[in-house]
Amino acid sequence: MDKITQAHSVTAHIPSFTKIVGKENIFTDEESLHQYAHDETENLHYPPEIVLKPKTSEEVSAILKICHANKIPVTPRGAGTGLSGGALPQLGGVVIAAERMNQIHFIDEKNFQVTVEPGVITEVLQNAVKEKGLFYPPDPSSRGSCFIGGNIAENSGGPKAVKYGVVRDYVLNLEMVLPTGEIIWTGANVLKNSTGYNLTQLVVGSEGTLGFVTKIVLKLIPLPKYDLLMLVPFHNLEQAGEAVATICKAGFTPSGLELMEIESLKIVSEMIDDNIIPVTKETAAHLIIEVDGNNKEVLLQEMEAIGELLTQYEIGEIYFAEDATQKERLWKLRRRVAEAVKLKGYTIEEDTVVPRAALPDLIKGVKALGEKYDFAVVCYGHAGDGNLHIRIKKEGVPNSYEHPEMTKALREMFVLVKNLGGTISGEHGIGLIQKPYMDIVFKEVNLQIMQKIKKAFDPNNILNAGKIFDQ
Ligand code: LAC
Ligand code: ZN
Repeated sequence: MDKITQAHSVTAHIPSFTKIVGKENIFTDEESLHQYAHDETENLHYPPEIVLKPKTSEEVSAILKICHANKIPVTPRGAGTGLSGGALPQLGGVVIAAERMNQIHFIDEKNFQVTVEPGVITEVLQNAVKEKGLFYPPDPSSRGSCFIGGNIAENSGGPKAVKYGVVRDYVLNLEMVLPTGEIIWTGANVLKNSTGYNLTQLVVGSEGTLGFVTKIVLKLIPLPKYDLLMLVPFHNLEQAGEAVATICKAGFTPSGLELMEIESLKIVSEMIDDNIIPVTKETAAHLIIEVDGNNKEVLLQEMEAIGELLTQYEIGEIYFAEDATQKERLWKLRRRVAEAVKLKGYTIEEDTVVPRAALPDLIKGVKALGEKYDFAVVCYGHAGDGNLHIRIKKEGVPNSYEHPEMTKALREMFVLVKNLGGTISGEHGIGLIQKPYMDIVFKEVNLQIMQKIKKAFDPNNILNAGKIFDQ
């Protein structure tokens, strides 16, 4: 894709940007540009020419008007925890960082809603509503550092999605600045809405390509009083995958149903130096199973019944978390798997998702691919949603999403996913790195429709151009 502007045209606008955000909120120094040049996706590095940190929607609007008029590329940015390269300014230009837009405006306890700015850390938001007895469930692994704005952009998920759904299930209304500078609300603060096209849901998951979201109205639910957590060791990875559909078919809806292959557990246990999870030489994988609700007795019965149900598989001794500390240690191990396996040289985290009963076939298929191409394959993730994270590694092959040996194996993996009725991203988005595989899951006409929508919002193609698909 052509670079759509020249570097000098950005610097020429510094005086105007200064008037808008103040000189203390403009960054052009090497260190800042380096910081905003990468996210958590591999080791990609694309420095912007300038970083702006506005505080209000009006400031974002004024910045975008200048960028639109001068065709300057703009990359919206949350906390930079993304795994598909969505926040990378690969065309240079301006980064608009959300970090000063970090207010929780209003927790509407009567209507179970919260209005929040994009730069609020997801866990901070969750804790704030929890104090009022309310619950915002979506909890990506990075919830302690990611921003709610980034979660909206990627339509994030996390372990609780199996019972509570993903980010989009909680978004009622958005204030956004269009790439041309107009400020709009996409919907209304209501639980039902059949009023025209659903712009709110179009924007959720649009990866910052349609507008810069400046206010978010989220639905909340009552906070469940109790949760219980257990860990079931399986002697066979495919059986662990099969057990997921068995649990759901038996009528249980766990609030977490996660899978960790033994290799991922070993790597993360070593990294954070916590061996709380007992491992025997037979262990091939664990299912982490959480149930929540308001009646502890019922939850205990549910856990027992699930344990009983799973005795049809080759399993080891089930481990129950006894208290909040043990639960936290178990979740911490799960949450930090991605970071741990990345440090061990595994590739970018693939974000495959299939109908959950197809999990055993997915697991079998990717292991067979591993043998075919001589790759090590490690699996973990949100098995309850059929959302399996897969990483591959081959000695001597650089850990790069562009390396031909990697792309060949990844393409074959995604074809397998498609053939199983699935798709290539469940919760991380397409960004830069999954873009080459969109043809596997979409016809040309699907992509053309997306391109036309993009053009309707962003006629000059300035906002996160080159993400998801080529424009
Ligand atoms: C996970 C994130 C990184 O599930 O997607 O670990
Ligand atoms: Zn995940």
